[in-house]
Amino acid sequence: MKKIYLILVLITSIYAEAYTKQNRIDDMQKMAEAMSLIETGFFYNNKDIVRDGALKLSKAVVRVKPPLTKEESKEPLAKRVKLKIDLSNDIVSKIDEKAKTIYNRFDAKDARSSIQAYTSIVKQCMKCHYEIRHW
Ligand code: HEC
Repeated sequence: MKKIYLILVLITSIYAEAYTKQNRIDDMQKMAEAMSLIETGFFYNNKDIVRDGALKLSKAVVRVKPPLTKEESKEPLAKRVKLKIDLSNDIVSKIDEKAKTIYNRFDAKDARSSIQAYTSIVKQCMKCHYEIRHW
């Protein structure tokens, strides 16, 4: 049993290393679905749907990694790349944080703040797309 667990840990850590372009595209698509789900929850005034969407968004966004790690970027362009990596990590954690705000505020019947958090997430998505997407 212990051996199987160890092998599983090993496999997952190997896969965790390699975050491929396809992984990123999959997570992006999940996030886009999550955003529509949240919006549907707003329109139908249904907090369960808002929660499902927010959870789905959080789950996907924390997986998102920029194409390069800091260790990899020691060549001439390194400084610029590092800035982009820091920016994208910053955006990712903001989105995760705001996703929690969406649900908490909506659950507290504060739809206005909840929608504000939603809008700021859209801005963060677009910020990454404008500034980071073309590496
Ligand atoms: C860390 C930067 C970053 C953030 C944050 C980000 N994206 Fe992206 N997104 C990308 C990159 C890079 C691509 C291009 C995918 C690739 O080719 O690697 C992309 C592509 C996409 C695509 C197209 C996927 C496809 O099928 O080709 C969608 C949809 C998308 N993003 C939605 C979102 C949504 C919704 C959010 C916010 C919740 C978001 N993205 C936040 C970097 C980001």
